[in-house]
This record gives sequence, C-alpha cells and structure tokens, in this order.
Amino acid sequence: MIKLIEDLFLVFTRLLPPELSKNFTLKLLKVIYNLNLIGLFKSRKNFGESEIILNSLSFKNRIGIAGGLDKNAEYFHILNSLGFGFVEVGTITLKPQSGNPKPRIFRYVKDKTLLNSLGFNNVGSVKALKNIKKFKPKFDGVLGISIGKSKNTKTKNAWQDYLHLMDYFYLEADYLAINISSPNTENLRELSSQENLEFLLEKISQKKVQLIDMYKKNTPIFVKLSPDEKEENLKNLIEVSEKNSIDGFICCNTTTDHIYPIAGGMSGAMLSKKAENMQKKVAEFKQEKSILIASGGVMNASDVKERLINSADLVQLYTGYIYQGNSLLKKALKISSS
Ligand SMILES: Cc1cc2nc3c(=O)[nH]c(=O)nc-3n(C[C@H](O)[C@H](O)[C@H](O)COP(=O)(O)O)c2cc1C
Repeated sequence: MIKLIEDLFLVFTRLLPPELSKNFTLKLLKVIYNLNLIGLFKSRKNFGESEIILNSLSFKNRIGIAGGLDKNAEYFHILNSLGFGFVEVGTITLKPQSGNPKPRIFRYVKDKTLLNSLGFNNVGSVKALKNIKKFKPKFDGVLGISIGKSKNTKTKNAWQDYLHLMDYFYLEADYLAINISSPNTENLRELSSQENLEFLLEKISQKKVQLIDMYKKNTPIFVKLSPDEKEENLKNLIEVSEKNSIDGFICCNTTTDHIYPIAGGMSGAMLSKKAENMQKKVAEFKQEKSILIASGGVMNASDVKERLINSADLVQLYTGYIYQGNSLLKKALKISSS
C-alpha cells in the first residue's frame, strides 16, 4: 500500500515544474514527519545498520544525500529518519542569495537526467546555522555542510568567504565539503586551477589548525570535484589537497558536457559513466587514507555496487532519488550492506 502511495506520488509530482515539485515534496515530508508518520516510509528491514567508522566519524550505513537537496538545512533530520546514514546540506554561502532566474531545473525523463542552473540559492550562513542548531537534536546521522563562495565574491577574495564559513560551521559540522565545482556560479571552477587551489587550500588548512586548537575538535574537510576536470589537473588537484590536510574527495558534481540546449549542470543517468570513470581515476591518484564519496548518476543498485567495488567508502544519491524516491534508497541500503 505504501509503495503504491509512493508510486502515485512520484507520478503526480512529475506533473509539476521540477523546482516546485522538489520543494512541495520536501514540505509534504515535513508534514508527514511532524505527524509522526515518517516511519511508514522507512525500510522495515534495517539494511546497512552496521557501523562504519571513517576518519573518526561513525556512519550507520554508506548511503547519503548529496549537496543541494537540502540547501538550507531544513530537512536533514527527516531524510535521516527515512534511512539515509548521512546528509550533506548546502551549498551555503555567507549571505542569502536568490540564485539564477527561473526556470532553472529541467527534467529529461526518458534520459533519467536533470539539468540545473540554480546558482547557490540559499538563506545564507546565519539562518542556515540557526536551522542546523534547531534540527540537529532530531538527527542521528553524519551531517556534512557544503560551503561555497557568494556570487559577487571575486575569485581572488574567495578564500575569505570559505574561512568565514568555516568559522560559522566548523563546530556543528561532522564534515565540511568545499564546493569549488558547481558550474552555476560564475568563475567558481577557477578555484581548482593549480595556483588558485594551492592558495585557497593553504588558507583553509591554516584556519583548520586554529579551529582545532580553539574547539579541540578535528572536523574532516572534503573537496567536491568537477567531472569536467582534465586528468592532468585532477592528479595535481588531489596532490595539492592531500598536501594541505584535506581528508577526502566527493566525486563528483554535475557536468557541463551535455547535449541539451540549456546552460547548466547535468546530473542523473547521463552522468553515470563519466562519474564512474572519474572515480576510478581519483581512486588511483589519491592516498589510501583519503575518503572517497561517490556522487553522480547513481540510479540503481548495480551503480551503488560498482562505486563501492571501485573504492568508494560512501555513496550519495540525488537525481536517482528524485526520480525513484524511497525505492532507490531501499535498494541502495540493501546492496551496500550485502
Ligand atoms: C537541482 C540540483 C541542485 C544541486 N545543488 C548542489 C549544491 O548546492 N551543492 C553541491 O555540492 N552540489 C549540488 N548539486 C550536485 C549534486 O550534489 C550531485 O553531485 C550531482 O547532481 C550528481 O549526482 P546525481 O547524478 O546523483 O544527481 C545539485 C544537483 C542538482 C540536480
């Protein structure tokens, strides 16, 4: 019965414009959660409930939600109660931003793909931190907080945004994700050039030393990579990151390499092969101790299995979850625990 309701709901929401559909679904989930009915939608079997310790973080399972679904940290506790072992909120910028003009999410249903040009629309660091403090007591997972530079911040000043954001979120985050790979904020990807990256990550690692000293807490920091990175630069990017005490990599963000007549980042099934190939490269280039989080075109159980076989420690869902809902989460939990 619940499966039927879920399936009908997915059909219904597909009739709405994509951004409205996403917001409506999250709001409805909140109503269901507040009515104490969310348990009905959770997998009955506790697949994957065997603890995984990575970098002193304890994960209940290997399946998480990727950055950008819960941009303002309003739903992470609800996603966790559905079964996700970790949730990455954000990307959050220092000040509130409205993002790029609408429409800015497009569905290509036959291709099981999304195209988005959102541009870090979010409520900003002050409000997001309030949300995190409010909902964290109801959260029993690992909380990632993704941070990014504001639209109006010039590349040369971007490091200041990241350092301020670290001040805001270091203590509350179980891990921080440095987003330098979204294609929808002008010039953001410039930060991954050798010179800019070295400068940024040096600043971040110096800041981390101060924060460890201040809070007596070592919050892991991951870098989220672009699938459009050239192989030579990728190798260097990983080397520079590891030299600056970065703890792992999220592989990968959306790609601008697509066939659709709209500017923006593509996600979903059409990204799958590219993300998988890139992950293999990252696994080859990185040190063993660096954590690898797979993201990008994880659409079914065999994608989850493939990513785990190819050295991913954790796997994030986004577009697959938008298209398939909880049935994908259940399959992912099952395969990742077998
Ligand atoms: C609508 C939308 C918004 C996104 N926003 C963010 C974001 O704010 N920060 C981020 O790091 N990634 C963002 N992403 C990228 C996803 O986290 C993910 O890396 C990417 O979509 C590839 O995974 P998928 O193919 O499973 O969707 C967004 C993706 C989509 C589709």
